[in-house]
Amino acid sequence: MTDSLLIHRPDDWHLHLRDGAMLRAVLPETARHFGRAIIMPNLVPPVVTSADAGAYRDRILAALPEGAEFDPLMTLYLTEGTDPADVAAAHASGLVKAVKLYPAGATTNSDSGVRDIDKVRPVLEVMAEIGLPLCTHGEVTDPEIDIFDREAVFIDRVMDPLRRAVPELRVVMEHITTSDAVEYVSSASAGLAATITTHHLVINRNHLLVGGIRPHYYCLPVAKRETHRLALRRAATSGDPRFFLGTDSAPHPDHAKETGCGCAGCFTATNTMSILAHVFEEDGALERLEGFTSLNGPNFYRLPVNPGTLHLEKQAEPMSYPAKIACDDGDVTVFDPGFPLHWRVI
Ligand code: NCD
Ligand code: ZN
Repeated sequence: MTDSLLIHRPDDWHLHLRDGAMLRAVLPETARHFGRAIIMPNLVPPVVTSADAGAYRDRILAALPEGAEFDPLMTLYLTEGTDPADVAAAHASGLVKAVKLYPAGATTNSDSGVRDIDKVRPVLEVMAEIGLPLCTHGEVTDPEIDIFDREAVFIDRVMDPLRRAVPELRVVMEHITTSDAVEYVSSASAGLAATITTHHLVINRNHLLVGGIRPHYYCLPVAKRETHRLALRRAATSGDPRFFLGTDSAPHPDHAKETGCGCAGCFTATNTMSILAHVFEEDGALERLEGFTSLNGPNFYRLPVNPGTLHLEKQAEPMSYPAKIACDDGDVTVFDPGFPLHWRVI
């Protein structure tokens, strides 16, 4: 039985760090295990220009604990007013590693997102030219479309036409939740990849809704039925380099989640690596964990693999971890996978 695993230091290709007190509270949780992360730009107001991204990066670096080695990879929030020249300059300087497409209204803080994709065509064409990836929140916002179908409909209505219109554009479908998305990415030619979160490998919609509503399992895209979770598990553990980890760890204070209209987001930064080791071992794919967390992402983003390592050990006693992370804005509940964790980062 394998009880020790040494892998290249992992990266998180989709992470929410927020700002101010929340940034200071959650950043150490990610920096402890991860070398880099793609930092989501959905602040209020959003990170739109290269100047915004530079200032936000400085705030993140200033919030890092003493001695931590963590490189925040910045993104720009695509709006219908985004200037292609600013995007090109942000890429050329090395500051920005991706641009994020939020359909307007799709999720937390997405009001400034894109309504008409044709309006951002010039930006997408420049990105295709310079090789800057587009990260997509892949859900339509049409109120007529059932929330459980919004990802599949996005593929047909937005993703596929977009990739045909700008074929050289490199695209990451983020936090995929359906077998439809797995199939779409698996059957695509070069230039398309997908991130998968930790929580979508663990929960389906029953976890969210059966026996009482569980606000800490509510995120967007919302967890789907079990067949979809199993498709995500197969994709993540397959070794296919187009699938890699993006935790979408999205902290909200408990008072904003445990309320009549709770907001979306699961906070998984603290125990993600332990949960993933459990999941990959359960699926007989422990030797593929490193590809998913540490190799496939850099390969797609054309960045070097982290030089450092991460050591996981399986212990007989389940490990303990905090149920909540303290924050001046209100405590943040850590994702509960619903099973004991025996793999610990040492
Ligand atoms: C994210 C957030 O809270 O910023 N929430 C979530 O449920 N994933 C936004 C997002 O990535 O959709
Ligand atoms: Zn997210």
